[in-house]
Amino acid sequence: MTAPFTIAVDGPAAAGKGTISKAVAEHFGLAHLDTGLLYRVVGAKTLTGTDAIAAALALRAEDLAAANLRTPEVAQAASKVAVIAEVRAALIDFQRAFARRAGGAVLDGRDIGTVICPQAEAKLFVTASAEIRAHRRWLELTETGHDVTPDEVLTDVKARDERDTNRAEAPLKPARDAVQIDTSEMSIADAISAAIVAVSDKRPQR
Ligand code: DC
Repeated sequence: MTAPFTIAVDGPAAAGKGTISKAVAEHFGLAHLDTGLLYRVVGAKTLTGTDAIAAALALRAEDLAAANLRTPEVAQAASKVAVIAEVRAALIDFQRAFARRAGGAVLDGRDIGTVICPQAEAKLFVTASAEIRAHRRWLELTETGHDVTPDEVLTDVKARDERDTNRAEAPLKPARDAVQIDTSEMSIADAISAAIVAVSDKRPQR
């Protein structure tokens, strides 16, 4: 059997990581894990009074399919629980097991290339300016019926950037060997192509 091939995709909120990761996973026939969902599940539980560490220790794969994980409130709660070292530690095994499944996988998040899978065969760091990311997120939220202003979304995105980048535990930063893709001026199709080219460079011919 061929060794698993892990692709780590990191970057700030709404940079296009999810879209790129899904497309890359499909292109290479790999499974995909949006690791933000793990923190969103834990964050959502804290909104109903559950302790964050207990919620992280109790996390099961089925929880990732819960409804309402995509709201701005849950996003902020996720970013807050993500600073807690014990929460991060409780979520490591699940992510690493997923990364090394047969064939391999694409994982997207903030610390995949730096902490969760430092040995990943391919690493991407996907960015875009805060204004462009906020605009994309605002379109997405209003299309799905959320009543938010562009300014509120920009404030939210900046608050999460600040917390995700400056926390002590596994802060958001590119791995030294990550290929950086700035999607600010790119179409979705171009960003996906750039990602596929970058990964193909690292992938042995099969
Ligand atoms: O990718 P996302 O927007 O769904 O992530 C929600 C929050 O979860 C994000 O603000 C920070 C945290 N997160 C993290 O700390 N590490 C990850 N690997 C993924 C997400």
